[in-house]
Amino acid sequence: MKGILLFLVLITGVALTGYVSGVDKSVSSDDSVRLATKTVISNLNVAWEITWGPDNWIWFTEQGGSLSKVNPETGERKILLHIPEVYRYRSLGLLGMAVHPDPKKPYVFLDYTYKNGTSILSKLVRYTYTADTLINPVILLNDIPGATGHNGSRVTIAPDGKVMMSTGDAVKGANAQNSGSINGKILRINIDGTIPADNPFPGSPVWSLGHRNAQGLAFGRKGILFSSEHGDAVEDELNVIKKGANYGWPFVEGFCDTEKEQAFCKTTEVTVPVKSWTPVIAPAGIAYYNSSTIPGWRNSLLLVTLKTQSLRVLKLNEAGNEVLSEKTYLDHEFGRLRGVCVSPAGDVYVSTSNRDWNPGEGYPKKEDDRIIKIFPAKAGSTIVTQKKTVKPVLLPGAVIYNNYCTSCHKSDGKGIAGIFPPLKGTSQVLGDKNTLIHIMLKGLSGPITVKGQKYNQEMPAFNFLSNKDISLVASYIRTQFGNKASTVSEAEVSKVRAAKK
Ligand code: HEC
Repeated sequence: MKGILLFLVLITGVALTGYVSGVDKSVSSDDSVRLATKTVISNLNVAWEITWGPDNWIWFTEQGGSLSKVNPETGERKILLHIPEVYRYRSLGLLGMAVHPDPKKPYVFLDYTYKNGTSILSKLVRYTYTADTLINPVILLNDIPGATGHNGSRVTIAPDGKVMMSTGDAVKGANAQNSGSINGKILRINIDGTIPADNPFPGSPVWSLGHRNAQGLAFGRKGILFSSEHGDAVEDELNVIKKGANYGWPFVEGFCDTEKEQAFCKTTEVTVPVKSWTPVIAPAGIAYYNSSTIPGWRNSLLLVTLKTQSLRVLKLNEAGNEVLSEKTYLDHEFGRLRGVCVSPAGDVYVSTSNRDWNPGEGYPKKEDDRIIKIFPAKAGSTIVTQKKTVKPVLLPGAVIYNNYCTSCHKSDGKGIAGIFPPLKGTSQVLGDKNTLIHIMLKGLSGPITVKGQKYNQEMPAFNFLSNKDISLVASYIRTQFGNKASTVSEAEVSKVRAAKK
């Protein structure tokens, strides 16, 4: 059977780029079509943003600093621009891009990080496109403070023609609450870089505040703006962005539900997310879908994720401002997904991010990174149904480890040299239990040395986990990956938690 399918794929010639597969997950009660996927282009290097251009090509950025477009039918690629000034490191580089939808305004907006001495900064630049070149760069926003994490960022054009951009808090939570800082914000400017007269803080590009690190920005129906945002160890968010609203970071993560959060929400008006995710999913690009091509997806927000390597379809209510349901597609099929866009014909395109700083296990593959088309399968032969993987039954400690630790320390406990330390054979894991429990409750912010290698990054606090869960995951890492240390009890965790309050 396998042989026949492969044969059909070959003879139909649909596999222009050598890859066709179906996504049988879409066949469910309210999905009316079977979907297939096809690689449009491969061998890219983190296609951060993809967008449907006015010329019916897909325009895309690559993190290292290139802007290209690809013909979605033939896979032909044209490189339009390379910006040598771009500073790529971890999640920094050439990030957001928006192409103005009005052909009479032939503008492309790009936002990227660069270095000035040792400072990391970002700028938003507008280029004018002609047939196949980009000319007249105009800097619209300059010297936006950056950092090696929490740096955003996305750019989109509002239905009223304004340019919207998200900025990260640059690892200083206080920036997000300070309306005088440009960090941790959604910004709004005119296409010439001037400040719209109706912005909430006169003379300031700030449109909303209290954001940690929004890496998705898109308009839905009736001019409703959505952002997707990375939480810390918990509470990734999808927000509906309103003029002048405060989204609570760093005091409120997700909803106003803990005691501390409720206290803050009593004195400050906080707008809570329309949806949040714990364990985190690492949400990236978003796009609004309202085509009848995939009827089940009409009036949905499409969200791609990095950590959970999937495409989420978030069905919206009639008003377009609430999420009614969530479905997951492409689950671990192509690795980390960074960007998503929709064509006027109602086909969906996603881009992978497997050559970034934190690749999933088994990635990058040689064809990475890719742009992949998702479309209604043609009747007949080319569907290859997705394999259903049987998930092994896991120890409770393994479940917690997979949910909260694997994305950084990896399932084999080997980490990523210089970024995420190993948990295999380290003195912090195998040594004094109280120190280990303390690390898990409070997190870490460098610098530390693990097995002779320096680390100077952030590890989130896991104090929201119960004593039991901490004891399970601590025991797990002390007995896995070839580690052979004693287990940790709930009582031991309880003691450390009480002592450090
Ligand atoms: C977002 C990424 C991230 C997640 C998620 C994460 N860690 Fe870490 N972890 C780090 C980083 C980064 C360091 C080093 C911190 C530094 O440089 O100061 C670290 C350090 C550690 C250390 C001490 C150094 C060592 O390797 O022995 C332990 C132990 C540890 N983590 C355990 C865990 C456990 C258990 C979990 C899950 C409950 C977890 N971490 C989740 C990023 C992470």
